Parts: sequence; structure tokens; C-alpha cells
Amino acid sequence: LFAGRVDFLKSAPGLQFLPGPTVPEIALAGRSNVGKSSLINAVTNRKALARTSNTPGRTQELNFFDVGEPLAVRLCDMPGYGFAEAPKDMVKRWRFLVNDYLRGRQVLKRAIVLIDSRHGIKPVDREIMDMLDGAAVSYQLVLTKIDKIKASALDATVAATLEEAMKRPAAHPGLIATSSETGRGIPELRTAMLAAALA
Ligand code: GTP
Ligand code: MG
Repeated sequence: LFAGRVDFLKSAPGLQFLPGPTVPEIALAGRSNVGKSSLINAVTNRKALARTSNTPGRTQELNFFDVGEPLAVRLCDMPGYGFAEAPKDMVKRWRFLVNDYLRGRQVLKRAIVLIDSRHGIKPVDREIMDMLDGAAVSYQLVLTKIDKIKASALDATVAATLEEAMKRPAAHPGLIATSSETGRGIPELRTAMLAAALA
């Protein structure tokens, strides 16, 4: 499915611009620069479908991608959070947009929460996890950029992340460790996304 048709659908700066709620959606959330856009490119086998950048906070809208022919899943690339230079207004806007989307979106089947494997879960990640728990949106935790750390450090991060995830009501069991660079964990993530969309 992910090797088939994938198209950028639209960018929604506000809830009034959301696509019609007709297709199961999967949303990607994570700190700015954690690798959301890169992961969308990796799971869909595209080089530059979602714009990646070194500038944190580049993505500020909800960006939708259609996957499959016939259309089967819609991916939502959510704006990144938690970068130091973010103006207060922008943080406020982010909170409203994301919270409203998470609470009001019936077709949202799962969120994927990306955690940088070098840093583990940070307070800003707990904020989005709190929002997801509050909205009762089931979420899958995914570690990113595992090509950048040693296996021993990865083991420690996996253990700490799983321990915290187990205490959270809406967290889906398990943890997928990925690298968009090497492709590790990408097939597992695809499978998890498909299962969530079809459930
Ligand atoms: P925002 O849109 O600002 O929230 O960022 P994002 O989460 O979409 O991150 P993006 O995919 O743009 O990646 C940020 C930077 O990390 C880019 O320079 C990517 O090339 C790099 N990057 C992403 N994933 C990986 C990975 O798995 N391994 C390595 N080594 N670098 C990665
Ligand atoms: Mg991005």
C-alpha cells in the first residue's frame, strides 16, 4: 500500500481547512526536528514528499497526505513543538490547533508520537501525551534517529520509554525504534499504521 500511490493533499492552517472526514487518519506528532517529515518520506518511499529541514518550526500547519489507490489512509503531519525560540503566540496557536484537531476528529485512528532516541521522553513530549490521553486518542510511541546512537544507549532509552508508556492510558503497547536514514524499523511502522487504519 505505502509503495503505491501517495499524494500531498493539502495544508490546513486552521480547523476550517481540514479535509472531509471520509478516510481513516493517522497523525504524526513530535518535537520540532525529531524527524516527522523524514519519517513520512521513509514510510511512503518518497524522497521529498514531506518537506524536511534543519530549521525547527518549519511545519506550522496540519499537512495531509493521501496513501493508496483506492484511498486507504490519510497521514497528518502535525506542526512540531518544543523549540526554544518559539514565540508565545505560536505556542498558544499550536496548542489550540492540535487540541481541537485531536478532540474533534472522528476519523483519527491513531497518533504516532515520535521521540528522539538520543534524548528520550522530555517534558514537551509529556504535554502532547497528556493531550492525547485527555482526548482518548490511542498513540504509538516511536523512537527516531537510532542510527545516531550506540546499541547500549538505545537499549536504555527503549527501557525507560516503555516503562513510562505503560503508565499512560491511551498509549498503544510496544515501541518501534526507527531510522529514516537506514530504514530500520520502517517496515514495522508501516505495518502498525496499516493495522491502526484498518481497525
Ligand atoms: P519540524 O517540521 O520542524 O517539526 O521537523 P520534523 O520533525 O519534520 O523533522 P525533519 O524530518 O525535518 O528532520 C529534521 C532533521 O533531522 C533533518 O536534517 C533530517 O535530515 C534529520 N533526520 C531526520 N530523521 C533522521 C534519521 O533517522 N537519522 C538521521 N541521522 N537524521 C535524521
Ligand atoms: Mg516537518
